[in-house]
Amino acid sequence: MKVSDVNMPQDVKSILLARGITELYPPQAEALPHVFSKKNLVLAIPTASGKSLVAYLAALNGVLSGSGKAIYIVPLRALASEKFEELSAFSSLGIKVGISTGDLDEAEPRLADNDIIVCTSEKADSLMRHRAAWLREISVVVADEVHLINDAGRGPTLEVILTRFKAINPSAQIVALSATIKNARDLAMWLDAELVQSEWRPVVLKEGIFDGTSILFTDNTVREVPGNEKDAVAALALDTIAEGGQTLVFVNTRRSTEAVAEKLAPKIRRMLDERGSAKAKALSETFLRGQSEPTSLGERAAKLIERGVAFHNAGLDSFQRKTVERGFKDGIIKCIVATPTLAAGVNTPARRVIIRDVWRHDANLGIQPVPILEIRQMMGRAGRPGYDPYGEAVLIARSDDEAEKLRDIYLLSDTEPIVSKLGTEAALRTHVLSAVATGFVSDDGGLRRFIDSTFYAQQSDSWALYGRIEETVEFLEENCFVESVGEKLSATIFGRMTSDLYIDPLSAIMLKGALERSCNVATAPLSYLHAICATPDMLSLYLRQNDNWVEEKIEEFEAFLLEKPSRYDSEYEWFAADVKTASLIEDWIDEVSEDRLIDKYGVGPGDIHGKVEIAEWLLHAARELARAFNFACVTELTKLIMRIRNGCREELLNLIKLENVGRVRARAIYGAGFKTLDSLRGVPVDTLSRIPTIGRGIAESIKRQLGEEIAPEGRGARRKKEEAAADSETGNGTDDKQGQLPRRSGQSSLMQFKEEKEE
Ligand SMILES: Nc1ncnc2c1ncn2[C@@H]1O[C@H](COP(=O)(O)OP(=O)(O)OP(=O)(O)O)[C@@H](O)[C@H]1O
Ligand SMILES: [Mg+2]
Repeated sequence: MKVSDVNMPQDVKSILLARGITELYPPQAEALPHVFSKKNLVLAIPTASGKSLVAYLAALNGVLSGSGKAIYIVPLRALASEKFEELSAFSSLGIKVGISTGDLDEAEPRLADNDIIVCTSEKADSLMRHRAAWLREISVVVADEVHLINDAGRGPTLEVILTRFKAINPSAQIVALSATIKNARDLAMWLDAELVQSEWRPVVLKEGIFDGTSILFTDNTVREVPGNEKDAVAALALDTIAEGGQTLVFVNTRRSTEAVAEKLAPKIRRMLDERGSAKAKALSETFLRGQSEPTSLGERAAKLIERGVAFHNAGLDSFQRKTVERGFKDGIIKCIVATPTLAAGVNTPARRVIIRDVWRHDANLGIQPVPILEIRQMMGRAGRPGYDPYGEAVLIARSDDEAEKLRDIYLLSDTEPIVSKLGTEAALRTHVLSAVATGFVSDDGGLRRFIDSTFYAQQSDSWALYGRIEETVEFLEENCFVESVGEKLSATIFGRMTSDLYIDPLSAIMLKGALERSCNVATAPLSYLHAICATPDMLSLYLRQNDNWVEEKIEEFEAFLLEKPSRYDSEYEWFAADVKTASLIEDWIDEVSEDRLIDKYGVGPGDIHGKVEIAEWLLHAARELARAFNFACVTELTKLIMRIRNGCREELLNLIKLENVGRVRARAIYGAGFKTLDSLRGVPVDTLSRIPTIGRGIAESIKRQLGEEIAPEGRGARRKKEEAAADSETGNGTDDKQGQLPRRSGQSSLMQFKEEKEE
């Protein structure tokens, strides 16, 4: 179907045509009538088959027809920015597109100004908990990657959001985008939706098994892999690069991503031409400059990028991952070796996806096969429209027997059916409390109706279901989150706060207990840090063999706010893991460098920033509880929050308010004898710029932020210019918080910053 023949406004068509979309793919054409007649839709079609476009058209149709706003829900923040950028192409039609990246415990009233709002499912859940009024104006709800309902971690949240939208906004159109799954029909029945299913893919994806010499594809064609590489991954990767393609390798551990990339690097480097090498070098420099702090991990990654290879895993921070993804899209990085963090939804120019591992280690279950659905998602990163004429997805077999098994399981079988995970204790207590706390449910009958309308209920026996709900309500009552009078159910202040703060009720109980105890203990930061790390909202770090220091620390430290188990208690291991995690945050606020943290804790910058972000959020929750229950530690907690946000000791909190001054520069300024903002007044730019890590650019920016005039260039101007040029080359003049904090510029920035901090 031609885009020009589609029944939609000419302006929309022009934008699509300008983006090279002239014809709709068959499953898109099949879905469109349902979209335009505002019916609910489950679109379960292969990877790369253009599901997003159908959802964009549904959102546009809702907004342009005046029905109301659209919300576009995605599983990951990285996907949110990709969808936001694509949807922003339609802003020339006067449509306002917004992305919600704010904290989970705020209502973000400014979002109401937008017509289309892109957010993660956690954010959508939190907006519902804060009763954001504009949610009632929503006429289209898009749920991308809806098969993730199957995911034990974030599945229940997505399921509950859709359930609640169906109830509070029954006329809203739900458009659910799914991978091809076995029970798509069940999903459509639950959502009362039309189902469009298809096996059609715009770019042919050849799927095969490599036996060491050739790939046998499922269409029975064979491709010899030339060369004398003994290593299967290297043979497959170099073969694709030699013919001008790019490749994505999936392995099962972070360590492997780096090891495999290291192995490939010298070989791929030889395949780069002069221009390619120059671009790779430039990208590698950008990567180093943009890091929050220099680390040996970053250095190793940059050295690989310089040779046209990269590794990609959750240990990298978001700036590093984005730079790698961009470099791959731009054709500078020829090969990425990744853990499945890269698998979901992203468009990559991989001609060949190589899957080395189909097994992985699970902390509870040991070695487990990777689900078929996940392998197919990885495979689907190859052969994306606009990049390659075809794609190849290759699994590696070490024997004939294995080849046969891999083929049967991963290439010829259906994917597993998706199963609701709402029945877990943690999911039920969290979502039942939030349903009551928001007034969505106000009596036993309402609660039953709510649970009855979930996907979980559709898949379970109702007697088991009601039993579990009763247990959940009992737990919430016993712990003073909800009260019941006869059939009526209502939330206590504690219950409402817990729901608004977006923490697990169990975390709230633990934090409240810890705060009570803090009144009778001479606390240290570690006391609070350990308490937040012990909650189920923080995923603690594993203990390693050389982590004996943790045990010593437990023995020595006397101000824990949660009971210390005996060394022989089975709980001890957990306790120690929480102490290790708390120590990471403690080191962070004591200004231990990221490089040292990486080494000491066996983590990457991504983990550090992730743990720091969660710690700040949980400590904020603890402070709000302390305030509500009149505990004396509010000021202490506020200071700790500021220290966590900035990764520094208390004495730097004043200097760090300056834009472009992170903990490293603030420490350098402090070390030079300038301990407060006031002490910087009247200090010549030249003096400031001589402080290590500062340089002229930053020195001038500091002066501007203090509202001081910068003397016009006079004598020595040339030298200053040279210094400034050197700064920009060494990165001295760049923002050391890039990728973390939004830039603000101009004289008003300091004011703005202060206001924000005071809020
Ligand atoms: N009709 C079309 N003509 C040309 N290109 C299209 C068309 N529809 C979509 N595309 C392009 O195809 C690519 C893949 O689309 P999209 O990301 O929506 O895939 P998807 O079905 O969501 O895949 P996945 O399951 O992997 O998330 C995008 O780059 C998109 O711009
Ligand atoms: Mg998609």
